[in-house]
Amino acid sequence: MFGKPEVLKGVRVLSCTQYILGPSCAAYLGELGAEVIKVEAPRRGEPMRHSTPGNEAFLYPLSRWVPGSGTGLGFFGANFNEYFVAMDFHRPEARELMYKLAAKADVVVENFRPGTFDRWGIGYRQLKEINPRLIYMWLGGFGGWGPGRVRASYDILGQAQGGAFSITGQPEEMGGSPAKHTIWLADYWGGMMGALQVLSALYWRDNVSGEGTFLEYTQVHGVTRQLEYSLPLYGREGVIRERWGNWDTQLCVHGIIRCGKPSYPQSDNPQEQEEGYILLSAYEDKDFANLCKTIGQAQLARLYKTHDVRVRPESQKEIYAALEAWAKDKTKEQVAQILGKAGLIVQPVWNAKEVASQPHWRERGAIFWLDDPTYGDVLSQGPAYKMSDTPPRVKWALRPVGADNEYIYGKLCGLSKTEIEKLEAEEVI
Ligand SMILES: CC(C)(COP(=O)(O)OP(=O)(O)OC[C@H]1O[C@@H](n2cnc3c(N)ncnc32)[C@H](O)[C@@H]1OP(=O)(O)O)[C@@H](O)C(=O)NCCC(=O)NCCS
Repeated sequence: MFGKPEVLKGVRVLSCTQYILGPSCAAYLGELGAEVIKVEAPRRGEPMRHSTPGNEAFLYPLSRWVPGSGTGLGFFGANFNEYFVAMDFHRPEARELMYKLAAKADVVVENFRPGTFDRWGIGYRQLKEINPRLIYMWLGGFGGWGPGRVRASYDILGQAQGGAFSITGQPEEMGGSPAKHTIWLADYWGGMMGALQVLSALYWRDNVSGEGTFLEYTQVHGVTRQLEYSLPLYGREGVIRERWGNWDTQLCVHGIIRCGKPSYPQSDNPQEQEEGYILLSAYEDKDFANLCKTIGQAQLARLYKTHDVRVRPESQKEIYAALEAWAKDKTKEQVAQILGKAGLIVQPVWNAKEVASQPHWRERGAIFWLDDPTYGDVLSQGPAYKMSDTPPRVKWALRPVGADNEYIYGKLCGLSKTEIEKLEAEEVI
């Protein structure tokens, strides 16, 4: 892949971003070959460096002089292939640098509160005067206008307000409550949608209008956009879609069951001593009949022969109970083996260790050991897509705050080494 061209080579992106929503947008462009310059607060960097395991929460000033310290592992994967410069947006000298960088950039990606960059004099209003071809991608919580726009937003707020939590988790009658997704779904999905907007705007600028544009993405609405049939169901029938835990309100069997025997009973990790779980899908009549026969419960197939009878809540409770009773003395691998052999769709629920050790994903480069020049070996997940002639790629994971001050400010702003050192000492950059 490294011998092939990069599809976005020549596109320069300024990533004034924090946490995951904005950073992942820029990183997706970086994986495609754009030159992404990440701009962070001098020394301390952006907040994501200070959260998640491996962080040293504001204990030490981060800088290129302590490269191995301080950055939490959550920062990894959202900032691939980037150059790292520092800039204190409060300082007039830094703003001048921002103008110089923006004059030579194609794209700015930013996810501060709406109005913050305008207040600092570096928003779209100001930057488009310097560079009319600039594409300005703003990602935020609630949109750039309207009474509720300036509230702070995070991934979980997006999921809560957007409607995702209310349909996730066990129903109350089973002792459950709304549940959050552990992964930063609203952020990584939002970053991807932002990248889609940027690519469309680049196409428009370069093939149609010749001009830049302002783009807006809202994290909350991005969650609502994924609510599938919940809104039409409510609008048409007045029915509020319900939670149904690890099962499915529309299909049965189509869910996760518990397998009573742990796969790694000898492990010294308590998590691995737990019982296993497996996803099982056999909702067509013939598959359900096959499933019942395989587990020695042919009477279940007779009792719940058709889809409409099977999906009823009381039927599902009985069917899943029978499946779990059968799987009580088996590991998830044993269940997968028996049901897989019968031609049914099964997949053990894997943890990170199990995911990381799959030869299929290793061979395809989806999971790989990155020999990172700064951090050494990093087990990484790469782009989830392939392109035959212009493949995406991961070149490095990340660098310390301001690591590329000299290279970028020298190359794009014409600063000398001495000038850069002075600005660094004054913590402007
Ligand atoms: C993430 C979020 C809640 C943070 O809110 P916040 O820090 O209270 O407010 P802002 O976004 O306006 O950021 C302003 C602050 O950034 C800090 N900052 C970060 N980088 C900086 C830099 N390079 N230079 C100067 N200040 C910087 C300053 O402390 C500044 O506050 P100040 O002007 O009062 O000194 C907010 O930006 C937000 O809602 N963003 C949109 C949604 C989103 O992307 N959320 C994160 C993903 S889950």
